[in-house]
Amino acid sequence: MAHAHHLPDGFLWGASTSAHQTEGGNTNSDWWQFEHMQTPIIKEPSGDACDSYHRWREDMDLLSELGFTDYRFGIEWARIEPAPGEFSRAAIAHYRRMVEGAQERGLRPLVTLHHFTTPRWFMERGGWAAAGSDELFTRYLTAAAPVYATGVDHVCTINEPNMVAVMAAVQRAHLSGEAPPTTGMPLPDGATTEALVRAHARAVETVKSCVPHVRTGWSVANQAYQTLPGAEDAAAPVRRQWEDVFLEAARGDDWLGVQSYTRTRIGPDGVLPVPEDAERTLSGWEFYPRALGQAVRDSAALAPGVPLIVTENGIATADDTRRIQYTSEALDSLTSAMNDGIDVRGYFHWSALDNYEWGRYAPTFGLIAVDRETFARTPKPSAAWLGAMGRRPILSPREGL
Ligand code: BGC
Repeated sequence: MAHAHHLPDGFLWGASTSAHQTEGGNTNSDWWQFEHMQTPIIKEPSGDACDSYHRWREDMDLLSELGFTDYRFGIEWARIEPAPGEFSRAAIAHYRRMVEGAQERGLRPLVTLHHFTTPRWFMERGGWAAAGSDELFTRYLTAAAPVYATGVDHVCTINEPNMVAVMAAVQRAHLSGEAPPTTGMPLPDGATTEALVRAHARAVETVKSCVPHVRTGWSVANQAYQTLPGAEDAAAPVRRQWEDVFLEAARGDDWLGVQSYTRTRIGPDGVLPVPEDAERTLSGWEFYPRALGQAVRDSAALAPGVPLIVTENGIATADDTRRIQYTSEALDSLTSAMNDGIDVRGYFHWSALDNYEWGRYAPTFGLIAVDRETFARTPKPSAAWLGAMGRRPILSPREGL
């Protein structure tokens, strides 16, 4: 008999989206502005995205019919605070309806407060690294408190602060005319890292003072670093600045979000390219599903005792059978870490929908396809396969196949 993994009671079983990548027409955000500048990073602007600002009910209907019990989505600062200190009651009411709409469909909402995008005015005054950014963030969270006042157990303050700090470094290089790195990613911008760590701590305080029962955390992009023998010196600063500082900042939080897609190998000269013979996904990353098991183990080591939630894990592919294979192997590595005692409280697949992948639409991460002309949603076989595991005591992922 195949061996069954029983996941703990109350295990969160969901899919993830973000506001900017799905809503469409996010014209007041810094990203919208960036999308209309001449830069090779942007192949096409986000435009209408998935039109989820209007079609969110359809998204939630599908997820709940598929068997999911949880949904992670974001609220958009640029809509809630269109000008400094000027709050949109209509935008707050919109997100409040989404929280209630999720509950009505049996989906527990996990709400992300910041997922890469800020209002244009916030970027124009210098972004996260500018003095007072944490103050502005907490003012927004206080105004948005009606959204998460009831019916929301988990709030994610900042999505992938390490990527936010890397993007700040890229932007700084762009502005000062420095050459971008030829391989790998630059190191995160130090001032932005410090500002984000501070903003997170203040956000936790603020959210809890508004709504004491909410469980707060942030989600870190986990690289599943693999250091080759003799590469310890090269790996130390990369690991420290890219990941460890952000994981350590989660000590004392109610939970820590783990976001894992692939591994990163480091040799004596730094980050290594994807091996020649490896299968690559549509985002160019190595097909390496077992990164997830390592990601939760590494996160637990840096933030001991903090419960983990996998807030993103998935694959960009046009071949849905590879999505099922990837996810099946990722879940195997996750359940084996859990069997070794790693405290994981939930799994959210990235993404619910094929959406705007920060500069282009080609890398499709969705469980549900979205027609770019009509916005019609079509669940892929992977959506039914993964959703069904939410309906019964969860067995070994392989048995779900
Ligand atoms: C982000 C998502 C993104 C995904 C795939 C994460 O970096 O949180 O917004 O779409 O990974 O690249």
